[in-house]
Amino acid sequence: MLFEEIDRVKQDFDQDIKEADSDKKLELIRIKYLSRKGLVTQLFGQLKSVPKADKPSVGKKLNSLRQEITAAFNNLKLKYGGDDKVSSAAIDLTLPGSKYKTGSKHLLIQTLDEIKNIFKGMGFSVYEGPELESDFYNFEALNFPPDHPARDMQDTFFVSDDFVLRTHTTPVQIRIMEKLKPPVRGIMPGRVYRNEAISARSFCMFHQVDGIYVDTDVTFAELKGTLVSFAKQFYGTDLKYRFRPSYFPFTEPSAEMDITCYICKGKGCRVCKKTGWLEILGCGMVDPNVFKHVDYDSEKYTGYAFGMGIERIAMLKYGIDDIRMFFENDHRFLKQF
Ligand code: DAH
Repeated sequence: MLFEEIDRVKQDFDQDIKEADSDKKLELIRIKYLSRKGLVTQLFGQLKSVPKADKPSVGKKLNSLRQEITAAFNNLKLKYGGDDKVSSAAIDLTLPGSKYKTGSKHLLIQTLDEIKNIFKGMGFSVYEGPELESDFYNFEALNFPPDHPARDMQDTFFVSDDFVLRTHTTPVQIRIMEKLKPPVRGIMPGRVYRNEAISARSFCMFHQVDGIYVDTDVTFAELKGTLVSFAKQFYGTDLKYRFRPSYFPFTEPSAEMDITCYICKGKGCRVCKKTGWLEILGCGMVDPNVFKHVDYDSEKYTGYAFGMGIERIAMLKYGIDDIRMFFENDHRFLKQF
């Protein structure tokens, strides 16, 4: 009897599965045959009333019924229904998305962008020049005569007798004055090279930005006004500063600008060597000897110039105590900015 019933269920199933053309219909079939109260399960329930001698053969037939039905069902499930089930189980649209790690500008470039923006806002244009520079532009036109001791201030990488890796961005001042007639107002950022022992304070390559303004009647007061405005925009308006006399061959008079130490706020500490002050840039009035090299009439024109190390002023702003951090590309450092 049970044998016949098994055959009937199989025939019904074969009929039902033929008509199953959607996930919904498949689900009804699953409930009808394979669920806990489904026909197949019910047939298995009847097994216990089968005489002992018949049990093995009936059991075998039941098992193969279940296998056939499950296999046929699974086949169609793949075709119609699999996707909804899988996707609704595997993708929880309410979860927050995973965050993409995006790159960002290097601190050096961020600092340079900020410097450029501040000076552009004060009417300066941006100029660039070559890193491989002739002795003339790097030294001679800037009033460092041959054998002048001031050349020792800058440890130079010589490429040949006449060519050097530029030791500062100041030679670009000469290049733009050769091309333009006053008024000239520009800043000149770029890489520079020095043959120095590498340490927390100095690296063989770093970046500077120079600036120059030449016109009739340019004064030292304007130089101070411009640089103080720059420093306040860059470091904050509560900044304290001072100008100290200094020496550069290409400016006369020359000065250096200091700001109060960011660590001790002027009280004196290890970073500022107990002075309370940190130097941020060199500056001065363009030496008339420099104008001679570019054919500017020093009776008619005056100008001011300045130069600063980009890493240095970023280090002072963010309290970074080792210049090598800028070049090691350690993510733990870079991602802080
Ligand atoms: N070139 C100088 C240096 O590398 C910095 C400097 C000082 C640039 C005074 C200037 C300036 O244009 O006027 O140390």
